[in-house]
Amino acid sequence: MAESSPAIENLFSEARTFPPPDDFKANALVSDRSLHEQAEQDLEGFWAEQAERLRWMKPWDQVLEWSLPFAKWFVGGQLNVSDNCLDRHVDAGGGDKVAYHWEGEPGDTRTITYEQLRDDVARFANALRSIGVQRGDRVNIYMGMVPELPVAMLACARLGAAHSVVFGGFSADALRDRINDAEAKVLITQDEGWRAGKVVPLKQNADDAVADTPSIEKVVVLRRTGNDVPWTEGRDVWWHDLVEGQSADCPPEAVDAEDLLYLLYTSGTTAKPKGIMHTTGGYLAGVATTHRLVFDLHPDTDVYWCAADIGWVTGHSYIVYGPLANHATSILYEGAPNFPDKDRWWEIIEKYKVTILYTAPTAIRTFMKWGTDWPEKHDLSSLRLLGSVGEPINPEAWVWYQTNIGGGRCPVVDTWWQTETGMIMITPLPGAIDTKPGSATFPFPGVDADIVDNDGNSVGIPGGGYLVLRKPWPAMLRGIYGDPERYKETYWSRFEGNYFAGDGAKRDDDGYFWLLGRVDDVMNISGHRISTTEVESALVDHKDVAEAACIGKVDETTGQQIVAFVTLKGAVEATDDTTEVLREHVARKIGKLARPTTIIFTPDLPKTRSGKIMRRLLKDVAEERELGDVTTLADPAIVEEIRDKAAARPQED
Ligand code: WTA
Repeated sequence: MAESSPAIENLFSEARTFPPPDDFKANALVSDRSLHEQAEQDLEGFWAEQAERLRWMKPWDQVLEWSLPFAKWFVGGQLNVSDNCLDRHVDAGGGDKVAYHWEGEPGDTRTITYEQLRDDVARFANALRSIGVQRGDRVNIYMGMVPELPVAMLACARLGAAHSVVFGGFSADALRDRINDAEAKVLITQDEGWRAGKVVPLKQNADDAVADTPSIEKVVVLRRTGNDVPWTEGRDVWWHDLVEGQSADCPPEAVDAEDLLYLLYTSGTTAKPKGIMHTTGGYLAGVATTHRLVFDLHPDTDVYWCAADIGWVTGHSYIVYGPLANHATSILYEGAPNFPDKDRWWEIIEKYKVTILYTAPTAIRTFMKWGTDWPEKHDLSSLRLLGSVGEPINPEAWVWYQTNIGGGRCPVVDTWWQTETGMIMITPLPGAIDTKPGSATFPFPGVDADIVDNDGNSVGIPGGGYLVLRKPWPAMLRGIYGDPERYKETYWSRFEGNYFAGDGAKRDDDGYFWLLGRVDDVMNISGHRISTTEVESALVDHKDVAEAACIGKVDETTGQQIVAFVTLKGAVEATDDTTEVLREHVARKIGKLARPTTIIFTPDLPKTRSGKIMRRLLKDVAEERELGDVTTLADPAIVEEIRDKAAARPQED
């Protein structure tokens, strides 16, 4: 590659800006850049001040010990996460406040206060102790979105045992591998879960997994649907039997700031999943601070809803630990967004007067596809702030969200982060930063992000390349469980001394960050490195398009040619002209160079269970290869369908 050629081209430009509305700014926790400046001058002082908001059982001796790439935060300090999330608030007189409004998919509900949650957690912690769980153990959790899931996590934390939650949509094999890697002693599951009106056979899957996990001694089973499930005497125990008669008195263990709080497995592309390690003090300070400031949390008046699944890091950090540490009132919803109908979310927002909604671009694009009739049926005027996470959000989806869900009055915070970062890293502070649709704007105070070329040199402003982080942050991963070498190799070797996130990004003339997707997805067209995200955003910008995924297909002349997979909005049908219309639209938005050679129309796209588009599989389809691993797909049948469509498409020149 020629020396002057940029790591990734900077093509798409977005001119719209949205300053914080005046009334929002007037009441915002942060309305200027003073925290950014404070943290830039004194990183450790900034985080020490934030960590002081927590309850420490023993003060720390040193804020940060940084021995690249291994960080320790609040060294020598002791605290307990469950104490901070529960007892601290109850002791301060806040026990009656609602922690979770839980909404079961079939329509049953529960309201759980901080005091009730504290008691449930203490009883369950005693119950776990009665079956041998001790400080330093690992406990696996495989459940749906029921209140007992956070109870189980917090009970582990109370005892100083680490949890490893495996998303309830994963298979028995995935669960087995994760249990074995963590060498967990106990597995907590439920009979079945509810999803889109159907039951998910959690206990059956758990049994299949546990057939091959020598470390598991006991399986604790919560009764949810009440249907019969297979049972192994001696090993299996009902949750309700185990907690019966347990005392609600269970003093939280004083654990070290650097003790393991949890493992959360994240898959690389093909290799064995990595057990990402998060520890106690720095993690809690990081998620509590970002949750408070990014969502401008006013705990006495806000009703906060992060609609992710607790099985992902978003749920760990922003349904469980951040909101509870901040004494927030949250919504917990068990099921699918289209059960019983496509307005379930909007019904929930109206019912509980939700003020803050945090969700993913994949959900937003799905709602776009379903059309505005569904949200229009409900009063969404309680909303005051919207958030997005998980993938780059296409500017058009951002504007749709801001207009149709936010009523044009709510700031939108697009938050970039990862399982590995533990906390939000690049994000607007909604009272302080003017937003641009599709941009995550600027690093959170204290976060030192840069964009570099192949050789690790900063590309400057404006410019595109690889996103790196230059300084440690409190919620950063402490490693990959059992594999420190892989930790160094995966994250710290590509650019010496920097954390490499694996994402492409660019900064525009104003220094705003734009995330461009995983670098493995970048396309190379006649020597130009073009991000899939930009071409996809240009397609989604067209009024008929709900969703798009682009890949680079091998081409003898140009290196790669762009193949686009496009899902049209609800009622729209592709006609003979649609391909040409969309090609022209891309040419107008970003240039002829980025026009897809081929467009395949499809009712849906292959996505992981956390909603990320799997472009690798689309590449397999386009290049007519055997499909790679499809086990992590939410709906494996969709690739077959796309393959048939691709094969049936008339050849284009
Ligand atoms: C992507 C989810 C663009 C990115 C918290 C990252 C995003 C990966 C954004 C981590 C965003 C997450 N804009 N891309 N706002 N948020 N990503 O571990 O590629 O499930 O590296 O953590 O999602 O996904 P993970």
